[in-house]
Amino acid sequence: VTRATAGDGGEDEDRLDRKSDISCDPPVEESLFDEIKRFAGFTDEDSRRLLALMPAVAPHAQEIADKFYARLLDHEEARAVFTEGEAQVRRLKGTLADWLTSLFRGPHDQEYFKSRWRIGNVHVRIRLPERYVFVAMNLVRRELHGILDESPLSEAGRRQGHETVDRILDLELAIITESYQRDYTDRIMRQGRLAAIGQIAASVNHEIRNPLGVINTSVYAMRRILEKAGAKIDGIDRHLDKIDRSLRRSHKIVNDLLDFARGRSPERKQVELKQILDEAVQLASVPPGIRAEIRVEEPSVTVFADPLQLTNVILNLVENACHAMGASGDLVLSAATAGDRVTIDVRDTGTGIPAANLPLVFEPLFTTKSTGTGLGLSIARNIVTAHGGTIDVVSSTERGTTVRIALPADERR
Ligand code: HEM
Repeated sequence: VTRATAGDGGEDEDRLDRKSDISCDPPVEESLFDEIKRFAGFTDEDSRRLLALMPAVAPHAQEIADKFYARLLDHEEARAVFTEGEAQVRRLKGTLADWLTSLFRGPHDQEYFKSRWRIGNVHVRIRLPERYVFVAMNLVRRELHGILDESPLSEAGRRQGHETVDRILDLELAIITESYQRDYTDRIMRQGRLAAIGQIAASVNHEIRNPLGVINTSVYAMRRILEKAGAKIDGIDRHLDKIDRSLRRSHKIVNDLLDFARGRSPERKQVELKQILDEAVQLASVPPGIRAEIRVEEPSVTVFADPLQLTNVILNLVENACHAMGASGDLVLSAATAGDRVTIDVRDTGTGIPAANLPLVFEPLFTTKSTGTGLGLSIARNIVTAHGGTIDVVSSTERGTTVRIALPADERR
């Protein structure tokens, strides 16, 4: 089972194992790490030296971590990064001490690289300014050199120790800055795509909406004319129905594009989730072979949300679920309160999403369907995020897909 996640808040323990919209996989891992090592001149000999230095350094790890955070907390802007207070700093001192020990312990292999990449991504995710990383790394550098200076090593051993410490810290810096670079490139690409969508939306709206309106009116007029004339021409109703359906689809595409480009802010009121779920299922054309079930905790669950937007989100998820199931399957929509959050699950027994596609499902224009704009889940994410919520996808190709939306509970109840 793999996950994709989007939105803000609601962070929990396993967040780093998820594919979030900013945390990306290491790029062609092996060659990148090897290339960085080669450039830094880091060899297996360095790994051996570091291991040999570990007994000298490990006893000082906690003390270095304490100094490190004292320095960061001394700086007003850096301090602002620690949003969870003292407990967080205490926890981070522990992680920094572990990080320091693992620098020396190694092994400096792909697993090591992955763990460092993950740490880089944590800092990217919290939007820590990159410049702080350089300053902070120098702090560590100075402390480690200080310990070596005090250690009972030979002159040559000490010199080698200094060189090795510099090399490993250079590796660390290179990996962290590469995570920042990756994130930056991803964001630029995303912005480019968004700008392109905005332009397309404006021109589609301008060029297509009017002709669609004309077709709509003409279909209506034709029905009236036929009705008045009492004419019964074989197949004509069927064709008019087809035009109607195609019109509805075209309208939806235009509206999706516009919604996405404009990102209307929610007009909130207290809404009953049961009503929203009912309406979304009614609006969707659920094939007769699919059993749709709505389970809502009693007493009824309410949220403070834009009913139209929320219905659109659920409708979109229901349509995706139906598409994944084809002619038959089970669709379960459920809503429940969990602490200060309300969760809405849309679960299907469809084909599931291949793990490789999961990180992309919230990306605008990503689609595996032959029809559709690839905007549905991006719009859903934008709407949910604008409501202060999160949206997650858990999927397996054996069991199907569950999309979970978590919204802040309605405090006004
Ligand atoms: C040499 C540079 C740095 C190293 C080696 C380092 C190391 C780490 C490590 C090991 C973690 C835990 C990652 C995890 O949860 O797996 C972490 C998290 C964090 N670091 Fe750093 N850090 C560095 C610089 C900084 C700086 C300069 C700041 C702030 C000014 C900072 C703020 C944070 C915060 C707030 C977290 C917690 C994020 C979260 O769990 O939500 N770090 N760091």
